[in-house]
Amino acid sequence: MKIGVVGSGLVGSTAAYALVMRGVGREIVLVDKNEARAAAEADDIRHAVPFAHALEVRAGNYTDLAGCRAVVLCAGVGQKPGESRLQLLRRNAAVFREVVPTVLRHAPDAVIIVATNPVDVMTHLAARFAAEAGAPPGRVFGSGTTLDTARFRTLLGAFCGVDSHHVHGHVIGEHGDSEVLTWSLVSVGGMSLDAFVERRGLDLSEPVRATIDEKVRRAAYTIIGGKGATYYGIGCALARIVETVLHDQRSILTVCAPAPDVLGVKDVTVSLPRLVGGAGVLETFPLPLNPTEHAQLRTSARVIRDALDELDR
Ligand code: 2OP
Repeated sequence: MKIGVVGSGLVGSTAAYALVMRGVGREIVLVDKNEARAAAEADDIRHAVPFAHALEVRAGNYTDLAGCRAVVLCAGVGQKPGESRLQLLRRNAAVFREVVPTVLRHAPDAVIIVATNPVDVMTHLAARFAAEAGAPPGRVFGSGTTLDTARFRTLLGAFCGVDSHHVHGHVIGEHGDSEVLTWSLVSVGGMSLDAFVERRGLDLSEPVRATIDEKVRRAAYTIIGGKGATYYGIGCALARIVETVLHDQRSILTVCAPAPDVLGVKDVTVSLPRLVGGAGVLETFPLPLNPTEHAQLRTSARVIRDALDELDR
């Protein structure tokens, strides 16, 4: 029941905090190249333990990851002024080339959950490096669009006047601009969204849908514009994913994982509803998308494949 978090910036430390609040696992180890930061975050989070759940929280190094069931990767370098997205990606790829085999050397049985952005590309690379280090497929996946799905459900719940736990809908594809909100498949309490809206006399006109779509797709930009970063939503999403792995809960989550083919796009990593359990990703489910969503998903997969091609060039 030991969990590692590599990279204890805002996302990593908030994930650790969310694990403590949810009472997931018995021990959390924070690893960061800035050891003072990791120690400070671990201390701060540990002081919340008497108000939450009895977990041990400490800072450590890679050797302290021995015995971890799950390791969350939030490590990565920030964008330098004037640096292109591709240059940043190249530097983060170099970080992962070091970090992934090191994690697996010390925690060979751990499921690795990638959170570093751009998460689809970074997950693809992490899975590649893990495979080179001998890890079985399915053991590396990314947070993907779990957060976007949560954002979609939150807004739909508010619109419908229903607890978002009872609103089901998925955001799939890239965790980013080209993501696909699967409107045609939304259900509320077992009813299709259209049937629910009609019964409740709600106005779900095209402009209302467009507003919800925009708020989900642009959420990160809006929040970063207001406070410089996002971390509560993703921290909680990561804690939920880790819980699923630790307890072999077999939850269906829109995580991202490498696939040989997504609608004709070869060897690509995008988010789709996936069965997640103790061994990582157990299965990927196809969705009966409408023709528009189908085309959007293919475009989204293409966006990720193009980024990977650019990186490999
Ligand atoms: C988010 O969507 C930036 O990936 C981060 O909140």
